[in-house]
Amino acid sequence: MNIWITKTPAQIEEAAAHTQLKKNLTAVDLAALGIGSVVGTGIFVATGQGAQLAGPGILLSFIIAAVTCGFCALTYSELACMFPVAGSTYSYSYVAFGEVIAWIIGWDLMLEYLVAASAVASGWSTTFIGLIQSAGVKLPRAFITPPITTVDGRVVLSGGIVDVPAIVITLLITWILYIGIRESAKINNIIVLVKIAVILLFVFLGVRHINLANLHPMMPFGWKGVMAGAAIIFFAYIGFDAVSTAAEETKNPKRDVPLGLMLCLGVVIVLYVSVAFVLTGIVPYKLIDVGNALPAALRRIGIQWGGALVATGAIIGMISTLLVTLYGQIRIFMVMARDGLLPAAFAKVHPKHQTPHICTWITGIATALIAGLFPLPMIIDLCNIGTLFAFILVSVGVVVLRKTRPEVERKFKTPGVPFTPLITVVFCFYLMASLPKVTWIRFGIWLLAGLAIYFMYGVRHSKLQSPAAKN
Ligand code: ALA
Repeated sequence: MNIWITKTPAQIEEAAAHTQLKKNLTAVDLAALGIGSVVGTGIFVATGQGAQLAGPGILLSFIIAAVTCGFCALTYSELACMFPVAGSTYSYSYVAFGEVIAWIIGWDLMLEYLVAASAVASGWSTTFIGLIQSAGVKLPRAFITPPITTVDGRVVLSGGIVDVPAIVITLLITWILYIGIRESAKINNIIVLVKIAVILLFVFLGVRHINLANLHPMMPFGWKGVMAGAAIIFFAYIGFDAVSTAAEETKNPKRDVPLGLMLCLGVVIVLYVSVAFVLTGIVPYKLIDVGNALPAALRRIGIQWGGALVATGAIIGMISTLLVTLYGQIRIFMVMARDGLLPAAFAKVHPKHQTPHICTWITGIATALIAGLFPLPMIIDLCNIGTLFAFILVSVGVVVLRKTRPEVERKFKTPGVPFTPLITVVFCFYLMASLPKVTWIRFGIWLLAGLAIYFMYGVRHSKLQSPAAKN
C-alpha cells in the first residue's frame, strides 16, 4: 500500500482518450460556460453580506478577490492544458502529489462544488421569496427559513424550520440532470446574456441615483473589514475553473482554455466592480437588504419594475449556475469512482437516460439538505475556504510538476514561475486567514473526515494500487 502513488501523465491521457465526449467547444463557448457558472448568488445576494463587513470598501474587496482569481486562473490554465481531462484539480493532484493528496483534494472539491451549489440554491430562494413578497404575497416564515442562523459568529435558532424553495429548486435541477438534459451551449449563451443584461440594467438604472455621501467613509471597518468582505465576495468568482473542467470537450484546449478563462474573468470583473460601486452609492451600506441586495436597492429608489426585472433575471441566471455547479460535482465524483476511490455505483450509468443516475441523486439530495437547513453565510464561508485551499494546491502543483514532469508539453505556461504561483498562494492564504476561526475549525473537521474515509475505503479499492481491485 503506497498512499503517495502517482499517476503518470500517460495514464491521465489514456483516461481522456477513452471518453467519448464531443470536442466542439471554442474559447468563446468556454468563456460563456464560465460566466454561466460564475455569475449567480455571489453578485446578486452575497454582495449585501460582504458590504456589511466592508462598507463601501466592498468595491476594494471585489478587486482583491478578482486579482486573486486572476492569479489562480494563470496557474490553473497551465495544468488544465497539460491534462485536458475531467476531474479538475483532483486529476492534476494525482500526478503532482500522489493518491492521498488527490483524494483530499477531491474531497475538498465537494466544498467548491456541492456546497457552492447549496449556496446558490439558498441565494436563489431568498431572491425568489423577495420577488414574490414584493408583489404582496405573504409566505409562511417557518417554511422559507433554515432552522439556524448566525449572529456575530454564534449559531442560534432562527425560528424557521426549513427553506422549502431552496430544496425544491435543487431537486428540480437534479431531476433535469438525471434525465440527461444538459444545458446546451446555445441555452447557456442565452442565459448568460440575460444575466449580463440585468446587471447592466441595474447599473444603468442605479447610476443616476448615486449619492456620493453614501460612499464616505469608504472603509468604516478599516482594511480588516475590506479583507473580510473579500473573503466572502470571493464566492462571486467561484466557478471560473468550470472552464478547465470542460477542457476535455474543447477543440483546441491548449489555446482555448487560457483564453476562455481570461475572457470570462475580464467580463465578470468589470460587471462586479460596477455593481458594487452603484449598490453602495445608492443605498447606505447598513441598509442593504442582505438576502436581496440588488432588487431591493432598486425598489428603495422607487424603481419597482426594475427591481422585479433584475430579480427575475437573477432567478433565471442562478438556475444555470446551479446546473453547471451540480454537473461539475457529478463529473468529479464519476472520475473518482472510475479510479476506485469511491464506490462503483457513483460511476454507474442509467441504461435509458445515459446519465450517472445514482451519483446525480446522491449529489442533488445532499445539496438540497444543506441548502434547506443551513444559513447562507455559513455555507459561503465553508465553500470559500475549501476552494481557496484547492487553488493553493494547484499553484504548488504547477511548481512541483515543472520539476518532476518537465517533459510534458505545456502549450500554456504560467508566466513568472515560481513567483506567480507563490503570489497566488499568498493571496489565497490571506483570504483564507480573513475568514472566521469557526470556519477553519469546520474545515479541519471536514478534511479529517475525508482522510478517515480514504483509509477506511479508498486505499483498499484504488485501481492504481491494485488494478484488479473492485470498488
Ligand atoms: N460564483 C457563483 C455564484 O456567485 C458560485 O453563485
